[in-house]
Amino acid sequence: MSKNLKQIAGIAALDFVDDGMKLGIGTGSTAEAFIEVLAEKVATGLSIIGVPTSERTRIMCEKLSIPLTTLDETPHLDLTIDGADEINPQLALIKGGGGALLREKIVAAASDDMLVIADDSKLVDPLGAYPLPIEVNPFGLLATRQLIDRCAGNLDLSGTLKLRMDAAEQPYLTDGGHYIVDASFGRIVDPEALAVALNAIPGVVEHGLFTGLASRAIISSESGARIVEAAVRP
Ligand code: A5P
Repeated sequence: MSKNLKQIAGIAALDFVDDGMKLGIGTGSTAEAFIEVLAEKVATGLSIIGVPTSERTRIMCEKLSIPLTTLDETPHLDLTIDGADEINPQLALIKGGGGALLREKIVAAASDDMLVIADDSKLVDPLGAYPLPIEVNPFGLLATRQLIDRCAGNLDLSGTLKLRMDAAEQPYLTDGGHYIVDASFGRIVDPEALAVALNAIPGVVEHGLFTGLASRAIISSESGARIVEAAVRP
């Protein structure tokens, strides 16, 4: 997404932010475009308090003087605003391209609502062209990979499972100290079933399928921003 489309989505998201709100603040380049405009509003008097969904977002918010809290101090939030890697018509999402899926999901689940911000290239049907990030405990990695493979096979899914590496060619570590396996399943027609099956694997900490969390998305394109509501599955 071009910088401009991220800014369009970020600016449009401000319409959903009211004075006094407790906000979950997302991670990724689109969320960062939102954080920039949010900081400008805060500087001119908007009163909000935010819970960042990653260390990267926390550092950016602190630099821009956005007041922050934690879920321990403020366990219930009004709204989380976050990006996504893929969005289907029911607003089921693939998230975690930036590695923050666990905190993103904890924060979204602690919020009354989730608003997704993205450009129209993220709208897909079905999900799955973007590799699904699966956060796993480093202990027993091979065994967990085999269980993920078996669970996918039970749902007629297959594809490569790739351990995410960092710039130093070491396993990428999440903010929680876990690894990420990126699963290239190709077509995920039943994200709810896959979500349940992955959650049943002990070594899986969390996965990037977000179902039943977002009710609206702001989708930007060259012609501006539009609101997409979650469609009922046909
Ligand atoms: C971070 O872990 C992700 O869930 C991001 O929200 C997602 O990858 C979208 O990022 P961009 O806005 O940078 O495309």
